[in-house]
Amino acid sequence: MTGLAIAAHQLRKSYGDKTVLDGVDIAVPEGTIFALLGPNGAGKTTAVKILSTLITADGGTAQVGGHDLATAPQAVRATIGVTGQFSAVDGLITGEENMLLMADLHHLSRNEGRQITAELLERFDLADAARKPASTYSGGMKRRLDIAMTLVGSPRIIFLDEPTTGLDPRSRHTMWQIIRELVTGGVTVLLTTQYLEEADELADRIAVLNNGKIAAHGTPDELKRLVPGGHIRLRFTDPTAYRTAASTLPGAAHDDEALALRIPSDGSQRQLRSLLDRLDTAGIEADELTVHTPDLDDVFFALTADLDHPKETVR
Ligand SMILES: Nc1ncnc2c1ncn2[C@@H]1O[C@H](COP(=O)(O)OP(=O)(O)OP(=O)(O)O)[C@@H](O)[C@H]1O
Ligand SMILES: [Mg+2]
Repeated sequence: MTGLAIAAHQLRKSYGDKTVLDGVDIAVPEGTIFALLGPNGAGKTTAVKILSTLITADGGTAQVGGHDLATAPQAVRATIGVTGQFSAVDGLITGEENMLLMADLHHLSRNEGRQITAELLERFDLADAARKPASTYSGGMKRRLDIAMTLVGSPRIIFLDEPTTGLDPRSRHTMWQIIRELVTGGVTVLLTTQYLEEADELADRIAVLNNGKIAAHGTPDELKRLVPGGHIRLRFTDPTAYRTAASTLPGAAHDDEALALRIPSDGSQRQLRSLLDRLDTAGIEADELTVHTPDLDDVFFALTADLDHPKETVR
């Protein structure tokens, strides 16, 4: 093993003349959370389906759990769990029966199946609803059942395709907690999301998928430094100090009312130090200094802006 739970190189996939994935590289170290972020139709689900052996790529190579997708798909399947974008829960049967069905699919014995079902239903706060038809569950309960079903086979690598879409804020936080706990237990998670906040909150590394290519990848902080919008804000209470600072820092934007200066910055330590040095040399002391880094929304819009393909219009 390379220390990578998932390693994909130049994945390609087209449907007819539509190129969905156009040479995608993905590297996910073991025991980490990787977020594939992208707008509708970017190819997130396609990438998940390829990596989880549900469909085959037209080109490129990938190893999942150390097994090659092309030559050892069965071994990959034995290592992974997949929670699809659309629920796999059967509404006609109970939550418990859905779980036992998964246990059967994993060839667990009756006892083992009952035991893991009970454990997981308890862990996902579904024990009380276990004997009710899944069609009566709320969206959040169904999503928790989906993930519980994925965990029946104790997978080491889990794919979660939009695990929190449609959940309310509380259910979303519960789901985040569940995902974090999985990773604490050594599991590797690749999730897709359209929520920047979610990627920021959970992911060790993020890749932004756009038009079939990885537009950018890195830690949440690295991505935020890629786009303009970051700045350092200095606020003064003494108008004289404010005016001195304004003349010392010619590149700053002025807010005369708030006695505040806004200096463009990538938020790096180096820039901050040089600014502080200049203020020290001029004998200026700001009353308040804040560093603003752009958030992932800024990054997302900057990277996925597509002038050739303007947003769909309703005719
Ligand atoms: N079986 C298929 N046949 C033809 N086109 C497909 C098929 N599956 C996906 N596509 C197309 O591939 C593109 C990417 O789809 P995909 O489902 O991977 O996007 P996504 O990033 O998951 O989007 P969303 O955020 O809406 O879930 C879309 O344009 C879609 O229409
Ligand atoms: Mg999708």
